[in-house]
Amino acid sequence: MKAKITLDREFVTAKTDKRLYGSFIEHMGRAIYGGIYQPSHPTADENGFRGDVIELVKALNIPIIRYPGGNFLSNYNWEDGVGPVEKRPVVTDAAWQSLEPNLIGTDEFHKWAEKVGTDVMMAVNLGTGDIESAKNLIEYCNHEKGSKYSNMRVENGREKPYGDKVWCLGNEMDGPWQVGYRTMEDYADLARRTAGVMKMMDPSIELVACGSSYWGIPTFGKWELTVLEAAYDKIDYLSLHLYLGWSEKETMTYLGATKDMDRFIKTVVAICDTVKGIKKTSKTINLSFDEWNVQSSTRQSGNEENKWTVGPRREEYIYSMEDALVFGCMLITLINNSNRVKMACLAQLVNVAAPIMAPKDGNAWAQTTYYPFLHASNWGRGKVLTPIVKCPTYNTKKYGDVPYIETAAVYNEEAGEVTVFAVNRSSDEENELTLTLRDFSECEMIEHIVMSHPEDIKACNSEENPNNILPHTVPTAKISDGILNVSLEPFSWNVIRIKVK
Ligand code: AHR
Repeated sequence: MKAKITLDREFVTAKTDKRLYGSFIEHMGRAIYGGIYQPSHPTADENGFRGDVIELVKALNIPIIRYPGGNFLSNYNWEDGVGPVEKRPVVTDAAWQSLEPNLIGTDEFHKWAEKVGTDVMMAVNLGTGDIESAKNLIEYCNHEKGSKYSNMRVENGREKPYGDKVWCLGNEMDGPWQVGYRTMEDYADLARRTAGVMKMMDPSIELVACGSSYWGIPTFGKWELTVLEAAYDKIDYLSLHLYLGWSEKETMTYLGATKDMDRFIKTVVAICDTVKGIKKTSKTINLSFDEWNVQSSTRQSGNEENKWTVGPRREEYIYSMEDALVFGCMLITLINNSNRVKMACLAQLVNVAAPIMAPKDGNAWAQTTYYPFLHASNWGRGKVLTPIVKCPTYNTKKYGDVPYIETAAVYNEEAGEVTVFAVNRSSDEENELTLTLRDFSECEMIEHIVMSHPEDIKACNSEENPNNILPHTVPTAKISDGILNVSLEPFSWNVIRIKVK
């Protein structure tokens, strides 16, 4: 099979916002307790943070991590999680039917974030919480000192304000599973009033209002319209959440599912711009895709296991090569929509639906999905070049015609590099790709990285065999006169790095 891609130096979709490569850690399952924090682990530091997890996280070069939830957020009293640890209460978390010991709270998480070199995307509870608790939290985090909550932070050992710049106004408030879920009118009004106070406290912050928790929810569309109409001038982003593969396990259909993600993004953009038009404003609302991932077939159904314990196992999926391909297509879709998707959070980061697994008594290891994220986060920053793709398609009932090649290209001017990300969706055919780089002089191959598992698309990494699927460099690509010829293996994730002038 053959494909052609044309890129032009001047044909730029957008410059990526570094926060496109954000992630998410929730007080859920073993993400915090047993994930980032496990004082008994041989690699733990003086704070109880696992060193093996920190190393894997650092390599991902994550600019921002959303915290503390998720569904957990909607019943979290942040004041329970600050101050002397021995005085903190153990409380129930209704969202995940577990116990929250409050050993890790706002200060500890910021300490961990500083260690891994990331900012924190904070969130205020609009389920059981109210405007007052939101105001108090932003005072605690961002106010200099000399007031009740800023002084409390200083007493707790942190002199300098955290200065958190991005704040979420609740989580998935449209979902009946959410603690204290709300009608669209109720949420829109509360989000508007909370946003107003938060910006009075710190006008430099950016606020994310909840969009729909998933595209198929019956209130989708109307929810976005209602929230935007009420809070347009107070907010900066609208959120999107999407997990692909919940119920889809027919490989070729699953591989095409990012067509839906692309439509989802473009539909939300259209709604934002409709309200922009109605309001006759020049302000643009951008998107925060602050929960995205694939759901593997190892998905558990509920919270039955170890109810009302600390850090019970929840949603510890094991991701296959097939999942990594869909995951790679999701990254490509985010990159190609980076004119409006400014922030995105891979949900989640450790143990819970995660690229990093941290066994209690063993070493942390990387799932198949770890590698596409590593590549995109490290090489997918810069000017997104609009790819003109010509390639054969296959047909699916659910998504119509799906191209065999999914691709995005990013030009990093400072480094003088173009990186092309490409997934070959074909099960059995190599793709002979011709890539034309217009208007770039002196193009030279740096490397072509491939990840695949020729024998078994369902193969996974595991604690026992963490290196079963690893990306490796192959010497197949040739470049001359700005034209690159390369062969893409069946069912493969590819990163083609080119030095340019
Ligand atoms: O990531 C698990 C949950 O999925 C989050 O808590 C929630 O926001 C979403 O529904």
